[in-house]
Amino acid sequence: MTGIKIVTIGGGSSYTPELIEGFIQRYDELPVRELWLVDIPEGKEKLETVGALAKRMVKKAGVPIDIHLSLDRKEALPGADFVTTQIRVGLLEARAKDEEIPLKYGVIGQETNGPGGLLKGLRTIPVILDICKDIEQLCPDAWLINFSNPAGMVTEAVLRYSNITKTVGLCNVPIGMHMGVAELLDVEADRVHIDFAGLNHMVYGLEVYLDGEIVTNKVLDLLSSGAGMTMKNIVDLGWEKEFIKALNVLPCPYHRYYYQTSKMLEQEQEDLKEKGTRAKVVQQLESELFDLYSDPNLAIKPPQLEERGGAYYSDAACRLIHSIYNDKRDIQPVNVKNNGAITGIPADSAVEVNCIITKEGPKPINVGELPVAVRGLVQQIKSFERVAAEAAVTGDYHQALLAMTINPLVPSDTVAKEILDEMLEVHKKDLPQFFASSV
Ligand code: G6P
Repeated sequence: MTGIKIVTIGGGSSYTPELIEGFIQRYDELPVRELWLVDIPEGKEKLETVGALAKRMVKKAGVPIDIHLSLDRKEALPGADFVTTQIRVGLLEARAKDEEIPLKYGVIGQETNGPGGLLKGLRTIPVILDICKDIEQLCPDAWLINFSNPAGMVTEAVLRYSNITKTVGLCNVPIGMHMGVAELLDVEADRVHIDFAGLNHMVYGLEVYLDGEIVTNKVLDLLSSGAGMTMKNIVDLGWEKEFIKALNVLPCPYHRYYYQTSKMLEQEQEDLKEKGTRAKVVQQLESELFDLYSDPNLAIKPPQLEERGGAYYSDAACRLIHSIYNDKRDIQPVNVKNNGAITGIPADSAVEVNCIITKEGPKPINVGELPVAVRGLVQQIKSFERVAAEAAVTGDYHQALLAMTINPLVPSDTVAKEILDEMLEVHKKDLPQFFASSV
């Protein structure tokens, strides 16, 4: 059979129209024959709404992509060439708790960083590993492309605890930084190149080029002179000019939580009082989006979707699938097995790094040592992710406590234990591995 079969798990997500738009735009070079949108029974209504919009979008575009909806991934997976995962275990209610509880202890409350990131990892990893088992059985040749957060920790777990080797973790942060730099320089994005290296939501631009010439210092200067380049879900409080000069590499928007911890914490506490957590804001945005999606006359991706932090993730996804499928050998920043590309990070761990994308998958470009300015933080977060992934797989309380305590956003062992105990309890229903005997 010609054409590609794609299965998207978490297909009822409000982000799905982005993906559909991406496949429509690239149809000539990326002929998607079948797209299966799969969700859980609780997501049935959303799946039907998004699915109907997806069908209207391909019809309007006049491309022969067959859209199927399913509540059973085992029905969808056979014959898949690519499986994409975009799940949120515990839905936005769980995210709200991840963001709110740490704030009570004076600690950053964030979806993918600090305690929130840990608990999201503990909930998500077992579900992703179950999906891996199904892929192994039903479509062993498929590529697994994961967007589910925390994407770095999830990729780490897939690489180390599943038998799937054809896997890539994907995020919109590098593409967002690329577009942000082009905007700072006021040039077309295709004239810019960035040497990305680090981890997911902890990636740095080690060098920035414009038409092949190094312009890193100019970009760092622009970054700390005006708007500091960010994503919709992260407030931009600017950057300290002298610090950015000293750092000498381009930070990602998430680095604010590490380098501006107290300012970001104050801001989060204010936001909590005024408008609630980001999860609450997103709940509102989602309900507006789903109202729009329900309109039978809508047949395009509505621009309001760009208000979400993950805007443009489909560009990253479609670009990647396109380059694997066509053996394009272009350079893209993705999450893969390190294999020695970054010195000081275990060879079997996930890193986010520029790769050459071939039909055998992404080949990481060698980085060597990271600059001393950032090496320590990257290694500390990698240790955190490794311990967290082990805790997620084993349900071992002590590993979870260790992960919480060595996270640089958590100030002490006692605070770590208090936060962990409260968060494990509130997320109990989504953490069966920690409560095996009582569930
Ligand atoms: C960023 C991250 C994504 C994350 C998103 C959240 O862009 O890179 O990994 O999913 O923000 O956005 P939201 O609109 O849900 O707050």
